[in-house]
Amino acid sequence: MNLITSPGYSLQGSVTLAGDKSISHRAALFSVLAEGESRIENFPDSGVSQVMLSALSALGVEWELSGSSLRVDGCGLTGLVPINAVINCGNSATALRLLAGVLAVAGIPAVLDGSKSLRRRPMGRIVKPLRAMGVQVEAQQGWLDQDRITAPLRFARRDPGTKLEAINPCLHVASAQVKSCLLLAALAADAPTVIREPAVSRDHTERMLRCMGVEVRSEFLDSEGLQAVTLVPFSSLSLKPLRFSIPGDISSAAFLMVAALITPGSEISVKGVLLNPTRTGLLDALISMGADIGIVPGGEINGEPFGDVTIRHSSLQSVQIFGDQVVSMIDEFPAFSIAAAFAEGDSIVKDAKELRYKESDRISGLCIQLRALGVEVDEVHDGFIIHGGKGVQGGVVDPQGDHRLAMAFSIAGCAAAGPVIVRNAEIIAESYPGFVSTLQSLGGVLTVKGPGDEE
Ligand code: S3P
Repeated sequence: MNLITSPGYSLQGSVTLAGDKSISHRAALFSVLAEGESRIENFPDSGVSQVMLSALSALGVEWELSGSSLRVDGCGLTGLVPINAVINCGNSATALRLLAGVLAVAGIPAVLDGSKSLRRRPMGRIVKPLRAMGVQVEAQQGWLDQDRITAPLRFARRDPGTKLEAINPCLHVASAQVKSCLLLAALAADAPTVIREPAVSRDHTERMLRCMGVEVRSEFLDSEGLQAVTLVPFSSLSLKPLRFSIPGDISSAAFLMVAALITPGSEISVKGVLLNPTRTGLLDALISMGADIGIVPGGEINGEPFGDVTIRHSSLQSVQIFGDQVVSMIDEFPAFSIAAAFAEGDSIVKDAKELRYKESDRISGLCIQLRALGVEVDEVHDGFIIHGGKGVQGGVVDPQGDHRLAMAFSIAGCAAAGPVIVRNAEIIAESYPGFVSTLQSLGGVLTVKGPGDEE
């Protein structure tokens, strides 16, 4: 499918979005470990949420999705029945790494596998600490590089009475997926686990587990300059079921916000969107670039802050993104790069090598495709430099199988000099099936064409 965005139409109106993907993954999966029935509202109907629900079925868990309302029958921490399933995680590393934590705590045998792209992503970062805790897990090991550990991951059965050994890992890269996997495994550990990370990665696991009755503490260790999360397990630990409505997905909202920001005459509001500070790095970056953004906090739900955000078209200045801020906007660099193309001056992104290990190598993918749209950009090993101010010319791009690149290039078309054609844009449905219709409802002119249709 080709997605064509035509420039010259301002965006106006207000929208609410389906639930945040990171929270929905956790809500569905953690409900399995709870005692009793969980009910989760505003559950998204995207490709990646289907991956997680299929995984629940493969694990033998009863669930029902009616509209956007999800019911999950919990099995308790040790109540999953061994079924020896192969669980297909598609392209979702979040699903795979969270499921690894659940298999570790439940001690049931299963294989975690996924697409070709998922099989390329680094898994040593979870496999090594899980093995140190006593989890028996086999993985693909590189021939030349023995440190290169990838999926499929094969978990062996563990006797439900056997505890895992508590470890105190220090993560080299701030990663919420790794931290969450290890926190889940730590529920079955024989003593408290302390996980140190170089910056605060998204903390949805910590917030959700606290709401489910688990003792989880987060602190900054002055002496080491590191963040630490401590989870305290106890012998009769059981998790309370979840009852809440997931705030709107801030990572989906990012594309709408940047579209409004770069398109003259635009003003849009996104209502009830997640405002967890570990996820709002893009808002901070855009505000420091001069974006006219109003934020009205709406309170907290299941420990997660949310609120309404209003964005108006603004003239932007360049910005530098590095250090801890990278982590708080790790998924937002594709959207950010479009704002930077419209900002005066050179925007510099560094300390962001992790972007090379996402659904695609987002550093090289962004640089190559942005050039095809007439943006001047330099690639560096841990980021990129966008020489902004000239906007986007328009042209034809391929998102390299990456949903976020596809959405970023599409919104660039709202304010480009000519139409932007995104090839193979069907990948967008993986994370945000309502992307095209929502932008159209705001006034964007987007046309979907099949490969055989005239352009
Ligand atoms: C996610 C964490 C991030 C992010 C991903 C979702 C999560 O990955 O890129 O899209 O839900 O935990 P890392 O934690 O590996 O950076």
